[in-house]
Amino acid sequence: MSASPRPGERLTDVQTATFDALRSAAGAALLAQATAAHGREDEFALGTRLRRDHEPDLVAAALTQARLRARAADKFDPADAERMFFTVDGYEQATRVAVARHRASRLAATLGAGAAVADLCCGIGGDLVELARAGLTVTGVEADELTAAVAAANVAALEVDARVVHGDATTVDRAAYAAVVCDPARRGGRGRVFDPDAYRPPWSFVLSLLAETACVKVAPGLPHERIPAGVEAEWVSERGEVKEAALWSGGLARDGVERRATLLPSGATLTDRDDPGPSVRPLGGYLYEPDGAVIRAGLVTAAAALVGGGLLDPSIAYVTADAAVGTPFARGYRVVDTLPYDVKALRRYVRAQDIGVLTVKKRGVGVEPERLRAAVRPRGERAATFVVTRIAGAATVIVADPL
Ligand SMILES: C[S@@+](CC[C@H](N)C(=O)[O-])C[C@H]1O[C@@H](n2cnc3c(N)ncnc32)[C@H](O)[C@@H]1O
Repeated sequence: MSASPRPGERLTDVQTATFDALRSAAGAALLAQATAAHGREDEFALGTRLRRDHEPDLVAAALTQARLRARAADKFDPADAERMFFTVDGYEQATRVAVARHRASRLAATLGAGAAVADLCCGIGGDLVELARAGLTVTGVEADELTAAVAAANVAALEVDARVVHGDATTVDRAAYAAVVCDPARRGGRGRVFDPDAYRPPWSFVLSLLAETACVKVAPGLPHERIPAGVEAEWVSERGEVKEAALWSGGLARDGVERRATLLPSGATLTDRDDPGPSVRPLGGYLYEPDGAVIRAGLVTAAAALVGGGLLDPSIAYVTADAAVGTPFARGYRVVDTLPYDVKALRRYVRAQDIGVLTVKKRGVGVEPERLRAAVRPRGERAATFVVTRIAGAATVIVADPL
């Protein structure tokens, strides 16, 4: 919201009032115009045209919503995005729809239809909406007044059955709920925060939830030693990109599972129960690069077992095997050549092989892919992939063909 307060006014009151005005019949008509024209008409000209009939603050708010709706088509179903409301922060922090659906369906499957769930820290309602759509009886709690109003507007716009309360999640009586979901804010005044103690609400509150039946969304980089005993940690990636870790506790944790990697959209899942433990072996005819969720979950050896292979180095997330095995958990390559890491020799190889399009991947070595690519001067016609890593302590280049 772009309105600015007059002396004595609170910014949040002005923003909330502008947001309310946007939801009046006149505001809705203006927003519909702005949404329809976004991307088709120059925004400056559009703003000038709309300001002829509407207050500048309201026009600015409508244009911001139109811009965020267009952006949100990437994170939400486009049919939802064009009806939803956002704040910039709320959009950026919202859970992507595939991930929210995955979480909601696990909660509904475990708790049963209609179970009461509190979404503590519901933001603009990304998770909230999917929890309601999964058939749970959901109450969202949000401390920021405007964000809470936006969440309530999304519940109405998407016609889902959920309640939104403006309040402090840390004071909610959790006894009324079968489970709570919590997605603490991981942004401060200076951007993203990595220290869980700086989450809002802080880690101490998260720990109190994890002593009960809860699902808490955390950063994928959360150190494993922070995870309390008996809690299942699930790293989730979507189309190969790691999105989050979810901590499942109490009645939501699955017996005996400590670490899980889940890949969306397929839902393929791998756990520490599938992990036979470390196995290092020499390079075979195939190389596998595990999905980021598998790596974050510490399940590289579980992925290795799936392809009948082992690790090239105990501390590096590359797997090698003798056969080409299709698996969603790792990207496979056929090993074409193995070369010592020597830039001059690599340049000669690139020239001799007529390589022009060179992809450089690396793990466990201090090589900068961009610099190596420039140094070997790929000017030819063919495409190739160099995987730079350590084998038996020596920096090595594996020339690999994606399967
Ligand atoms: C990461 S966002 C939640 C995003 C949400 N899961 C979604 O998908 O849209 C975290 C939210 O927690 C809110 N928050 C922070 N501290 C809170 C508290 N003590 N009580 C309630 N909400 C809080 C922030 O205002 C922010 O909107």
